Amino acid sequence: MSTSTKHVAVSNQKGGVGKTMVAINLAGALNQRGHTVLFVDVDPQGNATEGLGLSEVYEEPEPNLRSVLVSQDTALSEIIETHPEMDLVPSNIDLFKGEAELVTEMQGRKRLQRAVADVGGGYDFVIYDCPPSLLVLTDSALLAAQNVLIPALAESTSTRALDILFDQIDTLEAEYETSITEQAIVANRVEPDGEAEEMMTWFQETFEPGLPIFEIRKRVVLKRAWSNGVSVFEHTEDCDMEGEFDQLAAHLEDAL
Ligand SMILES: Nc1ncnc2c1ncn2[C@@H]1O[C@H](COP(=O)(O)OP(=O)(O)OP(=O)(O)O)[C@@H](O)[C@H]1O
Ligand SMILES: [Mg+2]
Repeated sequence: MSTSTKHVAVSNQKGGVGKTMVAINLAGALNQRGHTVLFVDVDPQGNATEGLGLSEVYEEPEPNLRSVLVSQDTALSEIIETHPEMDLVPSNIDLFKGEAELVTEMQGRKRLQRAVADVGGGYDFVIYDCPPSLLVLTDSALLAAQNVLIPALAESTSTRALDILFDQIDTLEAEYETSITEQAIVANRVEPDGEAEEMMTWFQETFEPGLPIFEIRKRVVLKRAWSNGVSVFEHTEDCDMEGEFDQLAAHLEDAL
């Protein structure tokens, strides 16, 4: 659809904030809007791979994403799987070992970008689901995407997490002479209580208008869609958060 591929990494080193849930539903929203999507599961935990119904490939022997990044004897196109809403580069259990190996490889952090460049042009969007760490795989996804979407819980622990992530982005930009743009924050699992309201105000006062804030509520349908291996857009039950994911997708269409 678009002339050049748009890349976005979904990242926050804090665990369990909704990176994978946001990444899957953003991919679903983009697909719904008529875009082709490549989803890259960069997390050795493989939650997205499992959440998209491909848990069996997570345990398969090589070739897998480790062979692409570390051994470099496999093209990314060889390991792409299909899903009704997107194509998927699955994670694999070997990536735990692969991440440690990448540390000492020449240009280890640039290898994902090179691997995706070979196939990325065939897609409108490439979404990277990052692990909960600031190690080589997260750096790789940030460098490959050059755009970052940040899910964060509406609670006070998020302020330090965001400080640390922004510092890491600054360091990468300086080290690799590149630019990595924060595109939006997704406040996730927002519940109508005092702490969440205070944090939403803090997000808005700290980041808006430069950085849009999207708000996703805690919804059991999001969990059920995940269990069924699809986004809420493909899931049979309706979810009132579809509109917010659609607006997030529309924002990225325009911003990237
Ligand atoms: N808005 C939401 N409503 C209900 N459940 C949610 C919501 N967001 C996330 N969850 C659930 O919370 C858990 C953590 O979410 P998720 O795995 O997406 O976080 P993560 O940041 O990717 O975690 P990790 O850091 O381990 O990669 C999952 O079980 C997910 O289904
Ligand atoms: Mg995750």
